[in-house]
Amino acid sequence: MNNSNKILEVNNVFSGYGEIEILHGVSIDVYENEIITIIGPNGCGKSTLMKTIFGLLRPTSGSIEFMINNNMTPIHNYDTENLIKIGLSYVPQSDNVFPSLSIRENLEMGAFIKQEGMEESIESMYELFPILKDKKDDPANQLSGGQRQMLAFARAMMLKPKLIILDEPSAGLAPNLVTSVFDTIKTIHEAGVSILMVEQNAKAALERSNRGYVLATGENKATDTGNKLLNNKEIASLYLGGK
Ligand SMILES: Nc1ncnc2c1ncn2[C@@H]1O[C@H](COP(=O)(O)OP(=O)(O)OP(=O)(O)O)[C@@H](O)[C@H]1O
Ligand SMILES: [Mg+2]
Repeated sequence: MNNSNKILEVNNVFSGYGEIEILHGVSIDVYENEIITIIGPNGCGKSTLMKTIFGLLRPTSGSIEFMINNNMTPIHNYDTENLIKIGLSYVPQSDNVFPSLSIRENLEMGAFIKQEGMEESIESMYELFPILKDKKDDPANQLSGGQRQMLAFARAMMLKPKLIILDEPSAGLAPNLVTSVFDTIKTIHEAGVSILMVEQNAKAALERSNRGYVLATGENKATDTGNKLLNNKEIASLYLGGK
């Protein structure tokens, strides 16, 4: 890996809600084709970081750069629509599908800023996830938890992003479905998309990640390859439930 294929650089970012500062100088990098997992205790700022990258919160200091036409370009002043246009996509921690809309309509919403090529994109999502085609006219609220996540990912894939941000993709799912969500993540990764995810199922996520970052109280605590973090005794006892 070298700098030439870095696609996201978060550099010393401070962010929060109004007067409340949650991130106190967080830095992360994502390279092309990587799967990166961020772990850390509840409330440490993982979702805040994802929201800041996706333009839903503005950093008060620091920079966020993304690869646009082979140049790392500051994006921390971009709005969400422009971030989508340059190849960023985001699946929030909750409420990530429109429950009363059909599966097909949900996919259409994923491409609402660009109608052109819509049919083609929907067909490629049906190819990637055949179950969504079988149920295309059903409302999303009739899907199982795992299928609902699949739909949320497919919607995020509609405009062919370079990087997808997933906030706790396996949260709230039964253990047997956790594996199927990670299989779905593998499917989107193999389609050529880099993945930046936050996960509570830290072990399962790190096993499948190139690298990971540990956040605590809004600061970087550690970073390493997924396997090295898993085998680090201190990290394991503090952040991986002692396993
Ligand atoms: N809209 C908000 N306004 C004010 N404070 C908020 C808001 N959203 C989150 N916070 C606070 O910011 C801190 C970090 O929250 P955040 O959601 O980023 O944590 P997290 O690491 O994603 O936690 P979890 O593992 O529970 O999802 C928490 O103390 C939380 O209470
Ligand atoms: Mg969160």
